[in-house]
Amino acid sequence: MMRILAIETSCDETAFSLVEASGGLLRPTFSVLENLVTSQIAIHRPFGGVVPNLAKREHLVNLPILFEQIKEKIGKKKIDIVAVTVGPGLEPALWTGVGFAKEIHKKYFPKSKLIGVNHMEGHLYSFLLSQKTEKSNFKFQISKLKELFPAIALVVSGGHTIIIRMDSLTKRKKLGETRDDAVGEAFDKVARLLNLPYPGGPEIERCAKEGNPHAIEFPRPMMHDKNYEFSFSGLKTSALYYMRDHKTANINDVAASFQEAAIDVLRHKATRAIKEFNAHSLLLSGGVAASKALRTALEERCKELNIRFFAPSIQYNTDNATMIAVAAYINFLEKKNRALRANGNMAL
Ligand code: KG4
Ligand code: ZN
Repeated sequence: MMRILAIETSCDETAFSLVEASGGLLRPTFSVLENLVTSQIAIHRPFGGVVPNLAKREHLVNLPILFEQIKEKIGKKKIDIVAVTVGPGLEPALWTGVGFAKEIHKKYFPKSKLIGVNHMEGHLYSFLLSQKTEKSNFKFQISKLKELFPAIALVVSGGHTIIIRMDSLTKRKKLGETRDDAVGEAFDKVARLLNLPYPGGPEIERCAKEGNPHAIEFPRPMMHDKNYEFSFSGLKTSALYYMRDHKTANINDVAASFQEAAIDVLRHKATRAIKEFNAHSLLLSGGVAASKALRTALEERCKELNIRFFAPSIQYNTDNATMIAVAAYINFLEKKNRALRANGNMAL
């Protein structure tokens, strides 16, 4: 068993997690002892998005507070790995986490291994946090992991929209990604058009429940292109023009129709990849995976295709440090070692 202390500060959440990992690459099992997340949403909301230097300042305030809290949980327990997100994300924000990790590693856990983690790998591996066992609320496992592969992974967040083929837990190929806006970004921007607060995803979903998804025929950019690329800025612009030309538009109908168009594109491309590569499962992750509408749409499609569907338990969709601990465990098993340097543009 490896005990992992993980830190995440890539965007506007300051997060710490304490996880016990075991089972190796064949049966990775995670016991979450503590999962702390402090969101800065209220601070960034007046600006309609995340302000990097404000984020940095807040992380610097929150990191020691959360650490004191998790230190009580650690007590005299030995820490084997200190893990920290090194990218991608906002560089000033990332540096606060990396600096803090180095500091506590030196001062409190000098014998542990210090591991830098790719934030998107954290999201990707968060599907391992999808199944709770009966014994303990915080214990997750997947038996016969091998049966899941080949798998198609869809990682959808505020900064990324990526579709990946996974041949095993550690072997993967990126099939495509967005050429412009990420899907979460499009949700946030359309929400702003509708005068809904940041972050827009949950707000759009809330309004969409009251609206008609077929009221407006928004375009499905690149949906029928024979590739795995996405484009969401055109969809956003269509919503902008619609709002400009229909001053008395029903907000709920706009939200529902926009959400439907975005889901349609994601479902279409995922289906194409599943069929092309004979995938046994679809793995959905990233902040936008918190969308019940998206989860339901993809889960239904997987049922039709007779393959398995996995998405993390709801608290592990948006940014958290437990997914960073999970990725650190896999990285450790793979003997992957990243430089402990913030890299805002780190690729997956
Ligand atoms: O993964 P995440 O927390 O941060 C990044 O790494 O970007 O993702 C945040 C994104 C935001 O764009 C937010 O609007 C979106 O996830 N999101 C949603 C929902 N909940 C969060 N998008 C659609 N529907 C939701 N329910
Ligand atoms: Zn994220």
